[in-house]
Amino acid sequence: MSAVHPGRVIRGAVLTFRDDPAVVGPQRAVRFYRRGAVAVDGNGRIAWRGHAARLPERFRALPADDHGEALVLSGFIDAHVHFPQYRMLAAPGRDLLDWLNRFTFPEERRYASAAHARAAAETFLDRLVQHGTTAAVVFSTVHRSATETLFAAAERRGQAIVSGKTMMDRNAPEALRDDPDSGVRDSEALIERWHRRGRLRYAITVRFAVTSTEAQLRAAGALAARRPDCHVHSHLSESEGECAFVRRLFPWAKDYTDVYDRFGLLGPRSLFAHGIHLSERECARLSEAGATVVHCPTSNTFLGSGLFDAGHVGRPDRPVRIGIATDVGGGTSYSMLHTLGEAYKVAMLRGRKPTAHDLFHLATRGNAAHLGLDEEIGTLEPGRWADLLVLDPTATPVLEARHALSENLEDTLFALAILGDDRAVRATYVAGRLACGAAAR
Ligand code: GUN
Ligand code: ZN
Repeated sequence: MSAVHPGRVIRGAVLTFRDDPAVVGPQRAVRFYRRGAVAVDGNGRIAWRGHAARLPERFRALPADDHGEALVLSGFIDAHVHFPQYRMLAAPGRDLLDWLNRFTFPEERRYASAAHARAAAETFLDRLVQHGTTAAVVFSTVHRSATETLFAAAERRGQAIVSGKTMMDRNAPEALRDDPDSGVRDSEALIERWHRRGRLRYAITVRFAVTSTEAQLRAAGALAARRPDCHVHSHLSESEGECAFVRRLFPWAKDYTDVYDRFGLLGPRSLFAHGIHLSERECARLSEAGATVVHCPTSNTFLGSGLFDAGHVGRPDRPVRIGIATDVGGGTSYSMLHTLGEAYKVAMLRGRKPTAHDLFHLATRGNAAHLGLDEEIGTLEPGRWADLLVLDPTATPVLEARHALSENLEDTLFALAILGDDRAVRATYVAGRLACGAAAR
């Protein structure tokens, strides 16, 4: 990317993760500069970060945004979200399959219209930055054109997305079905045009085992073998009804994970949303393959799918990598703060008590690592994209009152995770440019 602006300094209470606080402890994992600064270069990358008082001379003349005591951190990464579901949050399905058939598929049919997809893509990408999300792994529809539209809109904004056209050739309305040949042909054309173009990445996207024939799964696996640089993105083991359906459709499979495995869809670049009902064997196999399971807490409780068990899935002797996501529109909020709060509650119901440091790490550096993008985003190390989020711990009267009781950073982050949402997002920067919010108070 050519130089896009002269550079900028963003001041505030700067927070970044050097390591995983759940593994090495917060002392070693966190860098926190209460009066800190991040210097952004002309290409939108981080040039320096540290104590504001030590800002090198060469950055002192740059335009500066001073966010005072607000937190400046790496923008959130949403590891699983549906662009065509941007306006169908709070659709009251009985369970996943009912929700898909009654609300989701009819809505996704509208994306055959280029005009509809264009307007939706803009609104969807606006929503992400308004909620402090600067990168996302995005489900599109079956339509190649809608997916083109999304990539083009993200490129214009300089926003990092991983996306792909959905493949589905059965158990969906005729208008939303492709076939094994056209699914791969359209995916290949999109990969040619968009994969690794600027900040965009392609994910070979099978909706879930229910909506693909064996021929399509085989074709998708062959494509993944030809393009190991692309991600694989799908759903796995979300609801009981879905798992029973998969058992009926693939009676030969050892389990749900085995369906994807047999067709070559399990690997270190594979992302599977949900993973609620995984057996011991499935976890061991996912771990061995290096695949990531993406926890979607607001969706899982809203659709009654179940309580994700991070202790089981991430068991230290055979850990499966765990990401976190909103899963809008099965998820009920675009806010990764709200999502972290709900993940905390689900963990408590499962007998675990994550720290706020763990949760914020998961939504930034953790998700970046699972996407293989940790050299690009997720931390404030020099050289990374300046995708920044400014959070105001006193954004609402309730937060302000609670903040008066906070004694340390863990307290502040915890209150934001439990009580925060888009109102706490004071500003979002994408590649060093203000994408929404106020430059400074
Ligand atoms: N499984 C297959 N499709 C979907 C979807 O659109 N949302 C969720 N939550 N699960 C799915
Ligand atoms: Zn989903």
